[in-house]
Amino acid sequence: MVFQKLVDRLEQGDILSAEEWLLLITKEDAEGVLYLQERARALARARFGMGVFVRGLIEVSNYCRNNCYYCGIRAANREVSRYRLDLDTILACCREGYKLGFRTFVLQGGEDPLQTDDFIEEVVRTIRTSYPDCAITLSLGEKSRDAYLRFFHAGANRYLLRHETYDEEHYRQLHPSNMSRLNRLTCLSHLKEMGYQVGTGIMVGSPGQTPQHIAADLQFIQQLMPQMIGIGPFLPHHATPFAHEMPGSLSLTLRLLSLLRVMQPAALIPATTALATLSAKGRNLGILAGANVVMPNLSPTAERKNYSLYDDKAALGAESAEGLQLLQQELSQIGYHIDYGRGDFHL
Ligand code: 5AD
Repeated sequence: MVFQKLVDRLEQGDILSAEEWLLLITKEDAEGVLYLQERARALARARFGMGVFVRGLIEVSNYCRNNCYYCGIRAANREVSRYRLDLDTILACCREGYKLGFRTFVLQGGEDPLQTDDFIEEVVRTIRTSYPDCAITLSLGEKSRDAYLRFFHAGANRYLLRHETYDEEHYRQLHPSNMSRLNRLTCLSHLKEMGYQVGTGIMVGSPGQTPQHIAADLQFIQQLMPQMIGIGPFLPHHATPFAHEMPGSLSLTLRLLSLLRVMQPAALIPATTALATLSAKGRNLGILAGANVVMPNLSPTAERKNYSLYDDKAALGAESAEGLQLLQQELSQIGYHIDYGRGDFHL
């Protein structure tokens, strides 16, 4: 019963030790894990009912100045054909998305130096004016404090920036030496103090990741108290240094989703595209493990294949904005439905 007891303590808001986290992350205890999942699911239902929020994902640029070893749009990958969306194209995506019922737009992109802060500010301001009832989420990587502030004042509400790993050495296994874990953490604290709803998270099963690393990640997340938490399995991309690494595990991803839900019952936690790519049932399993958000792809169809963070990334069917009906059907198989609300974080 030690597993169940720890789940209860997590639910009560206790701060667990690293060893206790390790047990929750690694113990082979089918009954305990089932109990964890039941608690996670019950907590999500108590707060969100059977509704799953949808966010329209617009991938605004696949140019990136970075060379993260895991990522298919890293600068050094010459195979990918690069694109960046202009203002009108982004607005057309929003128009389409609004018609379909989306009330959150997520602008995600590589760190593209030519998609300047001025440009992003203008995009945000225009969307804010045209869609005053919508939430605007940015996911554009590390920017200056000044840039984050300008985007916020232009009308952005939320920012997604995964810390990827809290461990310094592991961070260096995943990123070249010109990238810094400290800068990533500084960005997160800037975003938080400015008043953004902030999202962070990790890849599950990234090369070199140990249960100790994950324990540190969960402790960090508990401390940061982000409004959104994004985790999904690592999936290899053929044109990266990690081409031959193993994908992350489905069951560990689901277990971590449940731990996050129990730890932060109010958090917005997506069943990610990577999870849906790993397994045909991934999205619904994620929701049953405690996730409550899905982010269908709203990018121009012609460009989707080029936003290839990993191989075989799902961007069609229930992972696409046009596929909302299919998504609804699939959710209804487990008794859930799409919630078209903005779904702002509130305690
Ligand atoms: N597998 C899974 N997730 C990935 N990401 C980037 N590359 C991969 C990959 N190969 C995730 C990172 C990033 C988010 C946008 O996508 O965690 O923060």
